[in-house]
Amino acid sequence: MSAAPHTARLADRHGRVARDLRVSVTDRCNLRCRYCMPAEGLPWLAKPEMLTDDELVRLVGIFVGLGVEQVRLTGGEPLLRRSLVDLVGRIAALDPRPRIAMTTNGVGLDRLAAPLAAAGLDRVNVSLDTVDPAEFAALTRRDRLADVEAGLEAAREAGLTPVKVNAVAMRGVNDTSVADLLAWCLERGYELRFIEQMPLDAQHGWDASTMISSDEIRERLSERFVITPLPAAERGSAPAERFLVDGGPATVGIVASVTAPFCGACDRTRLTADGQVRNCLFSQRETDLRGPMREGVSDAELADLITGEMWRKAKGHGIGSEDFVQPLRPMSAIGG
Ligand code: 5AD
Ligand code: SF4
Repeated sequence: MSAAPHTARLADRHGRVARDLRVSVTDRCNLRCRYCMPAEGLPWLAKPEMLTDDELVRLVGIFVGLGVEQVRLTGGEPLLRRSLVDLVGRIAALDPRPRIAMTTNGVGLDRLAAPLAAAGLDRVNVSLDTVDPAEFAALTRRDRLADVEAGLEAAREAGLTPVKVNAVAMRGVNDTSVADLLAWCLERGYELRFIEQMPLDAQHGWDASTMISSDEIRERLSERFVITPLPAAERGSAPAERFLVDGGPATVGIVASVTAPFCGACDRTRLTADGQVRNCLFSQRETDLRGPMREGVSDAELADLITGEMWRKAKGHGIGSEDFVQPLRPMSAIGG
């Protein structure tokens, strides 16, 4: 039995309310980023395990009915889902219409940015950790930097602005080139954000002592730029701490997900490609929606399952504490 009050919709017992739904539309990926998955990839979900388009749109509609205002499509790599443009159109047709964003590695975005924008996609975050071709190949284990650059340009041309770039720095791989990445993004008008590496890789190789902290990124950037913090008041619920670059107006963000967790302001909920609702990236549990849906339960019953899972959301991720246990599902199967 859930104690979740019906009127509180996607509330939890710590006073937070989820308004941002992250939907993983596939667990597959065409890159093999070292902080995410092993070289050989992972055992992907089988087709019958995945939500169909109809199932996915139905569930997103129920989340929107529960107060979700923004839907972010993620993966794996979301562009690998063949029906993605159609899915975006169907989500954009929901009432009330949520804002629609996507987190992608950018491979294939050169062809898809315009049709996605036309279907209703509002904004895009492209993951790009370095613009050095050798570093890119070492980090992603694929030689696709030119595709990502073309994808970013196409996103800007399609009006998916402001185009945002997400970067993770890894020691000995791309940590010494973060200022080059910032310079590159500034020249092109992309908004760059660094994210501290979290223990979410499938191979469990994360190590607090080798992680590049937000302080270290700031120091590295300061070797080339004048970096000054924006007042916290302008930060809102966005997790990135933002800095003016050389006095502005350009900014750079740093998400200190590990060293300064933003769990207290979290407004996120997640739906996996196989139809499980997760209240946190780091949750040790999830609630299955696919099974009940295929058995024919009503929207109201699905809504109860969702609100029940959200009500159980833990206060924080606890990375670094003694009893922290990495989630069973890797990031690529949860969605960023
Ligand atoms: N830690 C931090 N960020 C990660 N991402 C993937 N794995 C990790 C991790 N272990 C990033 C990707 C992408 C977003 C979905 O999350 O680079 O930008
Ligand atoms: Fe693919 Fe993203 Fe994982 Fe890289 S981080 S392998 S782009 S899912």
